[in-house]
Amino acid sequence: MNMKKLIIANWKMNPKTLREARALFSSVKKTANKLRNVQTVVCPPYPYLAELQKMVSGHRVVLGAQDVFPEPEGAYTGEVSISNLKSVGVKYVILGHSERRATGETNEDVSAKVRVSLKAGINTIVCVGEKVRDEHAEYLHYLRIELKESLHGTTPSSAKKLIIAYEPIWAVGKNAKKADTPKETEESILFLRKVLVEVFNKKIALNIPIIYGGSVNPKNVKSFLKEGGIDGLLVGRASLNGLSFGKILKESDKK
Ligand code: PGA
Repeated sequence: MNMKKLIIANWKMNPKTLREARALFSSVKKTANKLRNVQTVVCPPYPYLAELQKMVSGHRVVLGAQDVFPEPEGAYTGEVSISNLKSVGVKYVILGHSERRATGETNEDVSAKVRVSLKAGINTIVCVGEKVRDEHAEYLHYLRIELKESLHGTTPSSAKKLIIAYEPIWAVGKNAKKADTPKETEESILFLRKVLVEVFNKKIALNIPIIYGGSVNPKNVKSFLKEGGIDGLLVGRASLNGLSFGKILKESDKK
């Protein structure tokens, strides 16, 4: 696949203020706008989206959301629809993140959101990842089911804007003991691609970007991109520091 590396900043519920968000975004933009081989996506909390959109110039760095409600419109207090997101210029959405699944989101919930998002023409990132990696490779079985069910009802024709993020839960967030190893990531990525062939067909499956997330930092980014068999990265903690994220972006720009 000859395409730009997709580097996604998942800011989660950070930073605390719009002012800090503007400053961080401006630092990301400065680096990202210079890079030819990277598509940068920043996913801030909902309330910052419209404000940060005013700072977007060009296509090298665009905005994404961290979730969406599956209904198109109506009386759903506190929820945000895909049209709401589109109207403020959102181009990507992260779905099925493990931190959302931990609050009770099921594969079925995720699949409904995926269908709505793809139908709206939004680049849709579907997160999957095992809780533990056992010696008997049972986790592969878990991954297959999670991916298949999360994509339930997704048609081959709508899969053009689909992106899969492999995020082993044990490697994600501040309680993570370590990042995955690029070698083992590569194995999981190959496995996920095989499942995508089962879900769609070979031609479509080969064109779906698969990215990795979980304790990516400026030190390990190079080996992940070189040996992990991935098309990009989903970065949490290290995306909250302009300098660290800038280093990740610059490393990703190298061919
Ligand atoms: P992390 O988070 O980089 O802080 O491990 C990744 C993610 O949750 O997407």
